[in-house]
Amino acid sequence: MSTKGKPTELKTPKGMHDILPADQKHWERLRRAASETSAFYGFERIDTPIVEAADLFVRSVGEETDIVTKELYSFKTKGGDELALRPEGTAGVVRAYLEHGMVNLPQPVKLSYVGPMFRHESPQRGRYRQLWQFGFEVVGDGDPVIDVQIMQLLAIIAAEVGLKDILFRVNSIGCALCRPQYRKALTQFYRPKTARLCRDCRRRIKTNPLRLLDCKQEACVELRNHTPHGLDHLCPPCHHHFKAVLEFLDELQLPYDLDPFLVRGLDYYTKTVFELFPEEPEVVPKPEGEQPAPALALGGGGRYDDLVELLGGKPTPAVGAACGMERWVELMASRGVRVSERGRPRIFLAQLGDLAKKKSLRLLEEFRKAGVAVAESLGRQSIKAQLRSAARHGVEYTLIMGQKETLEGTVIIREMHSGMQELVALEKVVAETKRRLAASRPPSGARPVLAPDPDDA
Ligand code: HAM
Repeated sequence: MSTKGKPTELKTPKGMHDILPADQKHWERLRRAASETSAFYGFERIDTPIVEAADLFVRSVGEETDIVTKELYSFKTKGGDELALRPEGTAGVVRAYLEHGMVNLPQPVKLSYVGPMFRHESPQRGRYRQLWQFGFEVVGDGDPVIDVQIMQLLAIIAAEVGLKDILFRVNSIGCALCRPQYRKALTQFYRPKTARLCRDCRRRIKTNPLRLLDCKQEACVELRNHTPHGLDHLCPPCHHHFKAVLEFLDELQLPYDLDPFLVRGLDYYTKTVFELFPEEPEVVPKPEGEQPAPALALGGGGRYDDLVELLGGKPTPAVGAACGMERWVELMASRGVRVSERGRPRIFLAQLGDLAKKKSLRLLEEFRKAGVAVAESLGRQSIKAQLRSAARHGVEYTLIMGQKETLEGTVIIREMHSGMQELVALEKVVAETKRRLAASRPPSGARPVLAPDPDDA
């Protein structure tokens, strides 16, 4: 569309971003660490639709949450269905658990996912409207050890991608039995101070006073520091559960801080809640007079023992977590985590003339079958331009098929660092190249599952 003949500038929608080829290596590394580690711990991959019934999120994430009231991308289809882009993954996973009768599988069911989520937030550093998450859900087990196993999983993935100094903030927000007492205590605390609260919180006092602890407005944060603590209102089972969680954390030596104000921005949680932060968050300078931006969580999760029942199933305990991949990747890049590129070509194929070009196509396929990545720029005619391209790829060898060599059924192997060249028979060139590559340094991307990547700082 254009206005007054002036073409509209086409850009990514506000708060959304492209993941460019140059950034893919960090993303790939993170995806690989998440999928390999979770597979080791028995998680199976699930993919749910990006679009779900809007009501699923209203019922699970909660009518009063910012995610639903302010940030949901919802729309009516031509057929009249009220749908929404998923703002998070847990609700869809639980819906799938119920829809596909996973309750009949051996419990717990351990599921993992990776994909984009959508939240209409005010875009700022580390806060996007399309954000990628990887997440894990364990449905059908109420043991506190599982809460900690999920946290351990996040810590292992963080270490795998070179983010070693992380810190968990943990809290327990109790259950349907003990939370009403805590809500009452909060309401009693806040009621006489209503005038000092932001507009949203004045409403939240009536609907869900726990949400007040999550408000980021300065005045509400100030008041929050004097509120009664939820931990003092836990019923005995919730108290024991949380005590066990802390003991397991100590046993595993996972670094954590108790945060009595951590309630999370979603309503489905019961008992344990946690968030994951870098131990030393990046300090984002702000103009004078402005509040420093709160540290951004790398991930968050907790127990949601009532959600399966809330969505129509039998009472089934569950726990999980999800992590914001943009934040991980940005941290990996800013901390200078070096990431090897798996499958990065170590050889370049250059050709001169039509016959060589034709033979190159077949030779490339032979290399593919032999599992050797090859870079080329078949569209270029000049050998000089192709050699420049080879240098840009940083390959160790360039194979040159000149007109003469092609007629004679040979290929030149040029060692890039020394400039030494050797003539090899065409039918032997794949084997000879493989031999040379194996004899020089091992490919940095090759590594056993879960072993540390030798290239990572
Ligand atoms: P959440 O805390 O809303 O939890 O999101 C998890 C993580 O996603 C956050 O810690 C953050 O890293 C990332 N994230 C959230 N919003 C944004 C945004 N606008 N831009 C960039 N990153 C963002 C959940 O989504 C729950 N479903 C987690 C869970 C799974 N609980 C139990 N199971």
